[in-house]
Amino acid sequence: MCGIVGYTGTGQAAPILLDGLAKLEYRGYDSAGLAVFDGKKITMQKAVGRLKVLSEQTHDGEMMPGTSGIAHTRWATHGAPSRINAHPHSNVERSISVVHNGIIENYLKLRNYLAAKGYVFESETDTEVVAHLLDYYYNGDPIEAMTKVMHRVEGSYALGILFLDHPGEIYAVRKDSPLIVGKGKDGNLIASDVPAVLKYTRQVYFIQNEELTRLTEKDICFYNVEGETINKELSTIEWDVDAAEKGGYEHFMLKEMHEQPKTVRDTLMPRIRDNDVYIEELGMSDDEIRAIHRIHIVACGSASHTGMTAKYVFEEMARIPVVADLASEFRYRDPILEKNDLVIIISQSGETADSLAALREAKKKGVMTLGIVNVVGSSIAREADKIMYTWAGPEIAVATTKAYSAQLIAQYLLAIKFAEARNIIGKEEVAELLKDLKKLPDQIELLLHNKGNIQRFANRYIAAKDVFFIGRGIDYAISLEGSLKLKEISYIHSEAYAAGELKHGTISLIEDGTLVAAVITQEKLYKKTISNVVEVSSRGAFVLAVTNEGNTEVEKVADYVIYIPETSHYFTNSLAIIPLQLFSYYVSVGKGCDVDKPRNLAKSVTVE
Ligand code: G6P
Repeated sequence: MCGIVGYTGTGQAAPILLDGLAKLEYRGYDSAGLAVFDGKKITMQKAVGRLKVLSEQTHDGEMMPGTSGIAHTRWATHGAPSRINAHPHSNVERSISVVHNGIIENYLKLRNYLAAKGYVFESETDTEVVAHLLDYYYNGDPIEAMTKVMHRVEGSYALGILFLDHPGEIYAVRKDSPLIVGKGKDGNLIASDVPAVLKYTRQVYFIQNEELTRLTEKDICFYNVEGETINKELSTIEWDVDAAEKGGYEHFMLKEMHEQPKTVRDTLMPRIRDNDVYIEELGMSDDEIRAIHRIHIVACGSASHTGMTAKYVFEEMARIPVVADLASEFRYRDPILEKNDLVIIISQSGETADSLAALREAKKKGVMTLGIVNVVGSSIAREADKIMYTWAGPEIAVATTKAYSAQLIAQYLLAIKFAEARNIIGKEEVAELLKDLKKLPDQIELLLHNKGNIQRFANRYIAAKDVFFIGRGIDYAISLEGSLKLKEISYIHSEAYAAGELKHGTISLIEDGTLVAAVITQEKLYKKTISNVVEVSSRGAFVLAVTNEGNTEVEKVADYVIYIPETSHYFTNSLAIIPLQLFSYYVSVGKGCDVDKPRNLAKSVTVE
């Protein structure tokens, strides 16, 4: 998740831009840059690493005189973190300068189109396509060029733009990536998030999808995608800076849970075209995929729970054997790996010590490795033979939510790819599965809307001593994650059990009032899990069930039922986990725990 700041006014732009970027640091970034316009020329500076480097490089902005400019902190998606890939990006004449948040999904197509017209690209980014496309359409009218670009690009974007022949002006537009305009006393600002402008003003306009804006020192104009002027209402920000960094949410975890529809969309949509899955970065032909005889999915913590889910999905959908393993076990087990095996390492941070060691172990044994990683340029991303990114943006809460959701999506896509290459499923089935995948973001949104009910339910359990999660198949994998979420942030003892195993010991722990969360989303296992629910409830358990819409049978045996919208049985984890995340969150809040930074835990476990 990158950050954007822009300013035009009577003050010096560079120090204001650097200060604004500093307020967005919490979002995470790996490089930064700014472009300042002194009325005659646009100067650019970029640096890899902390903002401090950019500040030193520009003497806190003093060596970049000028009263308008745009700036950016970059969280790498397309192309490694480097100076060349850092924003702003320009056209060849350096007369248009662009900063961008979001992902241009059809950038490869546009890049080829522009390259054929003689445009030369410097970076690997999707953003540079926008700079050249603006150049291609620019005829002296920025709004006209911008609307033409909007008709060509697909994906999400918030853009801040400078045009050399429009001194004192900055331009911006957004679609599915946040952007605000701040109305200041000595100038006006744009930013991807409120904290960047709060030092200068509390008066802001929230730009809506497909709205454009032009700012000068005194004026702010808004346009629709037809280029027609529109009116917007000014809002006053009442939050303090700290709250604003969380986008108005009380905790990062809550904010990140709400970002899941976007995360899922960003990880999914660029890889779907014409009813098919394209994972170009994989660089594997169907023949190479067919040559793989077995998959090992290796990870730690929640990432390993996505691997466990993927095991069920791959095996049933693509009929390929999968071993789901914990990295800390795999690395010391002298695992038996064969020539035609593929080792998939899943990691949000890309730095988890055990996962990295597992990757190295697999490479040492000469098998092909694939990293599914969120942080671009991280150790696992660099060392794996193949890499597939999850585009969740930086995750700050220790307990993962949105990265987890993105990891699931990446593996669903891979499973479909494998199933298709192995001729287990045909075009029609692929189309059906993709239809369901595309519905997930809205369905997740719907489940998040139900948070009030879940909060009320959670409040009854803040004093719970033990909670058990049960399920079969994929529902068991969901239970593992539900249980981990609860214990890590609420410090309540919880365990996940494969429902069929209950009788072999755990059921002796069920007492009057013990909460059992039963996950029942796999139709072919409904009856079996319902029998287990009856077993625990007849011993006094209070049963919370998460099941599919329409499976009202469950109401006869469970005490509280949460329904998830209809989806393929392969993808139910993406939906069933949402109420369980919310439940853990509200129990933790109710108990007054430090939700975002639970005791004894670290976000990135870089030691064994
Ligand atoms: C820590 C985090 C978990 C995460 C696990 C693996 O325990 O708190 O949320 O699932 O590490 O991290 P990774 O970065 O490899 O996904």
